[in-house]
Amino acid sequence: MDQDLARVARRLMERLDALTAFTDDPPRLTRLFLSPAHRRAAAQYIAWAREAGLEARIDPVGNIRARYEGREAGAKALMIGSHIDTVRDAGRYDGALGALAALAVVETLAARGRRLDVAIEIVAFGDEEGVRFPRTMTGSRALAGVNEPSALEQKDAAGVRMRDALIAFGGAPDRLAAARADGVAAFVELHIEQGPVLEAEGRPLGVVNAINGATRLSAIVYGAAGHAGASPMNLRHDALAAAAEMILAIETRARAEIERDLVATVGRLDVEGGAVNVIPGKVRFSIDVRSPRDEWRRRAVAEMAAAMEAIAARRGVAVELTPTHEAAAYACDLKIIAGFEAAVASLGLEPRVLPSGAGHDTMIMGQRWPAGMLFVRCKGGVSHNPAESISGEDCAIALAALTRFVEDFRAP
Ligand code: GLV
Ligand code: MN
Ligand code: MN
Repeated sequence: MDQDLARVARRLMERLDALTAFTDDPPRLTRLFLSPAHRRAAAQYIAWAREAGLEARIDPVGNIRARYEGREAGAKALMIGSHIDTVRDAGRYDGALGALAALAVVETLAARGRRLDVAIEIVAFGDEEGVRFPRTMTGSRALAGVNEPSALEQKDAAGVRMRDALIAFGGAPDRLAAARADGVAAFVELHIEQGPVLEAEGRPLGVVNAINGATRLSAIVYGAAGHAGASPMNLRHDALAAAAEMILAIETRARAEIERDLVATVGRLDVEGGAVNVIPGKVRFSIDVRSPRDEWRRRAVAEMAAAMEAIAARRGVAVELTPTHEAAAYACDLKIIAGFEAAVASLGLEPRVLPSGAGHDTMIMGQRWPAGMLFVRCKGGVSHNPAESISGEDCAIALAALTRFVEDFRAP
């Protein structure tokens, strides 16, 4: 391993540790889109970029962006990045690894005095996880020009509108269109695998060929609140008992397509009132359904909705389903896959191509530009968990492959 790259990789691991200080929920790592911790993490990222001689800035929608010119000013750009928001009680590598690796690549090129035929644009997206607001990937959608302005009006659980949170953060909701990127040749993202395949096969890197599509819905079950002691079991309209049956129906439907890698998750459940002696009258829960093929996912969602309606009718409650997020499955660009395979092979490793079960900004960027991803193995395949971990050696290998890809990249 090149000594400079090993040093850059060590610094990258240190920065990943340092970013854990930017949390809204210490000692846990929670950095939701447009939160104070996100603002402080962004300031730190900008400071590191400036040390590297880059004029980094926050764009109107809360992404951090910076440009490293190519040989000729104004050349088309290869965009590299990932996100710096996190789930609640997160690990430190999901997103932040790729956002900081983009900066590390530029630092390496600058240290080598290298300018390429393309410019490099680095981006740290703010909203990949979609934990704070119902709709997600606001940052990459704005860059790709596929954002719906109504997204700005959505509210978080505390009733704060995205528009107002964006203003407080230093963004400019009225100039959302100005976040749209132009002159981009392609987009690539380095990310932890978030699954166990690479570790099981003893490989540090994987090249992503496709990203599963996702549908998210918000479900509200309306029953009738009542006295826990005075209401006989046969005269109740218990919204939580109905929701429980619906959740199991969702799980059963997903398990029926196990061999097609269909997955469904209810990760959030709110019981209004929530008292020990009150029959729940209103329950809200989230549904997240993913699959490699859009038609499989759509059919599963429709059948889950029908099963929920049937349960509601039988129990004398009502259910209301609202879609909050929809991302089509994305087949990565073939030239980018080939480029990553070549970069991995140049390190003496056999390229392993695999799909991504998790969602990524790449699937949005890919709607407008050729896009692709490189995965690095993570310990036990664990992610969305503070135990998330990668080794320093793998980080250095990933950085070497990404840098090689960038150096060899030719704009189409
Ligand atoms: C993001 O991590 C997602 O796939 O939900
Ligand atoms: Mn991620
Ligand atoms: Mn994630």
